[in-house]
Amino acid sequence: MKIELSVNGEAHEVDVWEGESLLYALREHAGLYGSKNACEQGECGSCSVLLDGSLVCACLVLAVQAEGHEVVTVEGLDHPVQEAFVETGAVQCGFCTPGFIVAAADLLQRNPSPSDDEMREALSGNLCRCTGYAKIFDAVRLAAERA
Ligand code: FES
Ligand code: FES
Repeated sequence: MKIELSVNGEAHEVDVWEGESLLYALREHAGLYGSKNACEQGECGSCSVLLDGSLVCACLVLAVQAEGHEVVTVEGLDHPVQEAFVETGAVQCGFCTPGFIVAAADLLQRNPSPSDDEMREALSGNLCRCTGYAKIFDAVRLAAERA
């Protein structure tokens, strides 16, 4: 079926099947490869996107459910946390990074100066498989200072 997705302010007409995930549609039909597929089970957060401003795992949302709503992927973000990730060396394997960036931007939007515990809580749905959390938290702290 053909549906229209609004992603990062642009309309994308995509041809999906009923059970297709938003993540699959973004990557395979809309050509937006920033959101990563690392588990497809809602466990790792690498597919994090904003749906009408709320943080969701795109692998758990059906593409058809996103029709009529505004999706923002890492490609559409413009947030100080992106620069902060680069400066602190928080971009490590790059696989989990897009999800961390979307989740961190969401956190700082809601809470501009989070405590370490609040950071841990907010990013607890995002897994780094190489235990690189220290630099990621440094990046969020730096972005919070600048925001
Ligand atoms: S790919 Fe969606 S949570 Fe892991
Ligand atoms: S930096 Fe991505 S999994 Fe560790």
